[in-house]
Amino acid sequence: MAEKTILVTGGAGFIGSHVVRLFVNKYPNYKIVNLDKLTYAGNLQNLDDIETLANYEFIKGDIVDDEFVFDLFDKYKFDGVIHLAAESHVDRSISNPSEFIKTNIVGTVNLLNAARTFWKDEIDNKLFYHISTDEVYGSLGEEGFFVEETSYSPRSPYSASKASSDHLVRAYYHTFNLPVVITNCSNNYGPNQFPEKLIPLAINNIREKKSIPIYGKGENIRDWLFVEDHANAIDLVFHKGKKGETYNIGGNNEWTNIDLIRVLCKIMNEKLGREEGESEQLITFVKDRAGHDLRYAIDSSKIQNELGWNPSLQFEEGLNKTVDWYLKNSLWMKNITSGNYQKYYEEQYYKR
Ligand code: NAD
Ligand code: DAU
Repeated sequence: MAEKTILVTGGAGFIGSHVVRLFVNKYPNYKIVNLDKLTYAGNLQNLDDIETLANYEFIKGDIVDDEFVFDLFDKYKFDGVIHLAAESHVDRSISNPSEFIKTNIVGTVNLLNAARTFWKDEIDNKLFYHISTDEVYGSLGEEGFFVEETSYSPRSPYSASKASSDHLVRAYYHTFNLPVVITNCSNNYGPNQFPEKLIPLAINNIREKKSIPIYGKGENIRDWLFVEDHANAIDLVFHKGKKGETYNIGGNNEWTNIDLIRVLCKIMNEKLGREEGESEQLITFVKDRAGHDLRYAIDSSKIQNELGWNPSLQFEEGLNKTVDWYLKNSLWMKNITSGNYQKYYEEQYYKR
């Protein structure tokens, strides 16, 4: 019998797949159940290296379906939940907010209700771990950092739905004594990220010699973290985090979008044997994102001091690894960018 049975939601997505791989390989005595609806963002190819391992099971299902979620908890008697399933792209939340309300808020409440019901007699060794984002804190000016006490001020339908789910998770801790922990992380990058997000979109376009769309003047700032460093932080918080607490996770690695894209162009010119400055010519400034947050920056000293976490990779090293992965896995990209992706791209970049 497994030492623990853990439900990971959204495990076929970008960050979820790295978390599932880490847990399945590192904890052979745990059973990892990956529940994913396989939306456009979910891709089982992300996990083809571990799919046959005995301590892993995939279940296709929707967290918005409360009966299904209850039946699943009844069947598997989970000891822990690591909840990553979400609609995650800000631009899509601007064109279609309702999906974000359903999955990110209603879906989270369904999981909380099931955990509360099935854990009511024994909470000591249980944990509901909710994965959230730094975007709940709003937008920074040129100075300052988000700390765990920063007031929530979400400004997009995506971040408002994530903020709402964070509040609900905390409410279940205070009202029902549900053992919970929350982490709020900055922008992730790395292998397997869907090419709607800035870095994989730019890598794909540079490779194909297509224009690289930069919103506004490219002056917005994000704090980038390699996805495996986030997965390691999740492992640490799952095992050592204090119940009821929040931990911020970030790379201490701020870049304006335009500077980041220039570095990416330089790396790709070298790897693709292109002239110096060649890919940079693809940079195209386009209409800004509505309500575009200027700057995110995380102060992660709490998780560093209390749990001993630190990011392991320098940004250039992480970007190099990421570009190598995308160049090597062009079939993965081709499978994703054929079909519906073209329609999304048209609507997002040519019709708004
Ligand atoms: P993603 O979009 O790559 O993956 C989301 C996964 O959730 C997909 O596999 C999708 O199929 C699944 N899913 C969506 N709706 C579902 C539903 N109703 N039922 C079951 N499964 C469903 O997202 P990601 O970038 O890996 O983000 C994962 C989590 O981490 C999200 O909660 C996000 O808010 C949070 N986060 C992301 C970042 C980032 O930079 N990507 C940073 C901080 C926090
Ligand atoms: O901060 C954490 C968040 O990071 C996560 O919660 C989200 O799930 C994740 O999508 C990410 O949100 P961003 O909006 O910051 O990521 P995105 O890759 O969409 O955009 C990064 C920056 O690049 C942002 O300032 C917008 C800009 N951008 C993005 C795209 C897709 C462009 O200039 N052009 C583009 O085509």
